[in-house]
Amino acid sequence: MITCQNNIFKIDTLNTTYLIRINSHKHVISEYYGSKIDSQDNYAFSEETIKYPAGSSIAYDESDSQYSLDMQCLEISSIGKGDYKEPSIVIKCDEGYVLDLCYQNYKIQKYVPDKSLPYLRKADLDELIIETMDSTNGVLVELHYVCDVDDDVIIRNIIVKPTKKKIHLLKASSMQLEMPNQDFTLVSTYGTWGSENNIDEMPLKHGIFKIDSKTGASSNRHNPFFMLKEGGSTGVFGNVYAFNLMYSGNHEEIIELSTFDKVRIQNGINSFCFDFELKKGDKFVTPLSVMTFSSKGSNGASINMHHFVENFVIKDKVKVAPIVINNWEATFFDFNATKLRSIIRNASKQGMEMFVLDDGWFSTRNNDHSGLGDYDVNTKKIPGGLNRIANYAKKHKMKFGLWFEPEMVNEDSRLFRLHSDWIIKCKDRTPSKGRNQYVLNLSRKDVQDYIIENVSKVLHSSDISYIKWDMNRHMSDVGTLNYDSGEMFHRYMLGLYRVFDEITSEFPNIYYEGCSSGGNRFDLGILNYFDQIWTSDDTDAYERIKIQSGTSLGYPLRCISNHVSTSPSNSVLRNTPLDTRINVALFGSYGFELDLTKNYPIEDKNIAESIKFYKKYRLLIRDGDFYQLKNIKKDGYALWLVVNKEKSEALLGYFQGLNKMNRGTETINLVGLDPNSDYQFTTRKQILNYQTFGSLVHQAIKIKFNERGPLFTALTKRIGMDGEKENYIIGGKALMSGALKLDNKWIGTGVGSDTRTMPDFASRVYVIKKVKI
Ligand code: GLA
Repeated sequence: MITCQNNIFKIDTLNTTYLIRINSHKHVISEYYGSKIDSQDNYAFSEETIKYPAGSSIAYDESDSQYSLDMQCLEISSIGKGDYKEPSIVIKCDEGYVLDLCYQNYKIQKYVPDKSLPYLRKADLDELIIETMDSTNGVLVELHYVCDVDDDVIIRNIIVKPTKKKIHLLKASSMQLEMPNQDFTLVSTYGTWGSENNIDEMPLKHGIFKIDSKTGASSNRHNPFFMLKEGGSTGVFGNVYAFNLMYSGNHEEIIELSTFDKVRIQNGINSFCFDFELKKGDKFVTPLSVMTFSSKGSNGASINMHHFVENFVIKDKVKVAPIVINNWEATFFDFNATKLRSIIRNASKQGMEMFVLDDGWFSTRNNDHSGLGDYDVNTKKIPGGLNRIANYAKKHKMKFGLWFEPEMVNEDSRLFRLHSDWIIKCKDRTPSKGRNQYVLNLSRKDVQDYIIENVSKVLHSSDISYIKWDMNRHMSDVGTLNYDSGEMFHRYMLGLYRVFDEITSEFPNIYYEGCSSGGNRFDLGILNYFDQIWTSDDTDAYERIKIQSGTSLGYPLRCISNHVSTSPSNSVLRNTPLDTRINVALFGSYGFELDLTKNYPIEDKNIAESIKFYKKYRLLIRDGDFYQLKNIKKDGYALWLVVNKEKSEALLGYFQGLNKMNRGTETINLVGLDPNSDYQFTTRKQILNYQTFGSLVHQAIKIKFNERGPLFTALTKRIGMDGEKENYIIGGKALMSGALKLDNKWIGTGVGSDTRTMPDFASRVYVIKKVKI
């Protein structure tokens, strides 16, 4: 709900209040953001009274020599009138950089989406628009705030409109919030290809800290999501703020701890290489920025963001992610129809639902040097074309999906030979390649039209139920061939969103997976159109624990796409037990990416059981509230809990790094359950390989044999040993008080039904279900 009284705007969400004051100098002040305030008075208590400006500071105007912009908590900040902190908007016009934005007007209305950029899909939202104006140069800036009473997010952006003369917009943060420092720790993520979303934490220091992307996409470098945790807060307790941006291009997040001990927070399009010319009458709409506050610690803030994605961002939240078998890591480019059919047959036997044919199905694309851009099926590899393979999948009760990389082109392709001017490049400079390919210039309408037409043609040609939309290189040579290079990065995004919008609207029933060499474009912009995102090309389960922990800080499990792959892993050559590969992948959209024809019978059995398990709990995983209770980097093991909205069912994942000898008893302390109900706590069945025990196996089996010999090895491919199965009835209160003690771990001896055999990288999934006694 949004109200306005005595120059105070009050934005109330389910549990939070945001106060904005228009002060006597007509500046827009961030006054308060935190737990809900019900008071109806004039908010004199929250007004900051700054009596004495520091000696060297600038008095904003003569009416009040003690008023200096530098000390104010501003909702929007600019250059030239005495504020020396980071400006949130920078313009240049004939007069220079000076901009003085003063309150002019406001409007409270129902939210009207601007569909040129990712927008909010929830209906009936309230919107506040505060209009500010520089009366000298005529620059009008609208500050937009959108909220809803049953969620805890505020969505913001600004719109810039020159009303008198031409300007160059050099920076336009979607939002700014400024507040006194509360001993904040900044939590953000960083990464590279195959190692996305590593979690970083650091206490704020005086100065300016920036995370960003300059690659042209939101990137695997720094995700736009970040948090500020108040000193003393924990995973489930204390004040935490979280922020994200609905944008897939270059972004910047600035956190400045000023010398006045105030924290200024901004996010938006990266000002790096950004220079947008706006003529009188034009308008520039910035991407939507979302912020949330929770007094329930970092999990509370994450859950608010997850609800935001489900309720405001995702196009169709009742879609169910199919269990996928993707052939990439099984075959790479080297496949033929016989191979694909054998993968389909095996996948179908295990209960998988969707066969996704990855790269290499078209044109001359037998490696990554040629063919990209020409999406006509390679009938040498796939005689009978896509229809035949789609029909084969159908015959085996599976649907069919396809990989595309429509934003790119190989030099060795028909498309490039016809349209070499369609790529991003400078006029007179040889463009650099990435993965042997160029980026198509999506700021051009003819390029957008070509992509829409060609992808649609393929989608109409056959029964395709799933698309993996890839984008495999960073941008370079962003030059002046078409638009001014200061506009190109953003114009590319506008073009891309138009393409997404048209294709997803024409084919609403397709299930869409975004991908960019894994998680190089994992953001809210993509999720506005696509159902999920391929999280990382690193499918090693232990690496994935770290990657998925970082990703799920800001994004719900429903959009985190995970596949069980082979061991040793292609990425890090680590041997990770199959149970762990399964258990880690279960926490998200579940799938497989390995050559199933090479599985041992025991592996087939294990996989088939995991699929049955996923089918039973997929809605809980998709819609439940997700908590991270332990972190693998900090604690040596990860504890992930997902609880359904009714608190009647939960899954708990326990993931170990390196095993430790004689560590003692482990207790489990959960959250989010019903304290007044009883639950059954059981282990998802584990199958242990006898070879895990090495020569110790002789202590259990008293006949003589070689435990590394062919006979025993062959046996272990067929028969495994059941792991322990814990099974307790326990009250919700006890589960949330650390009363539950897990079975002891293997410590050099004692295999048995009450010993957890947990070698390095072992894991468990527990099912927690309400019982009636
Ligand atoms: C990228 C993706 C992979 C796979 C390959 C195909 O690397 O992340 O999953 O699709 O492209 O070339």
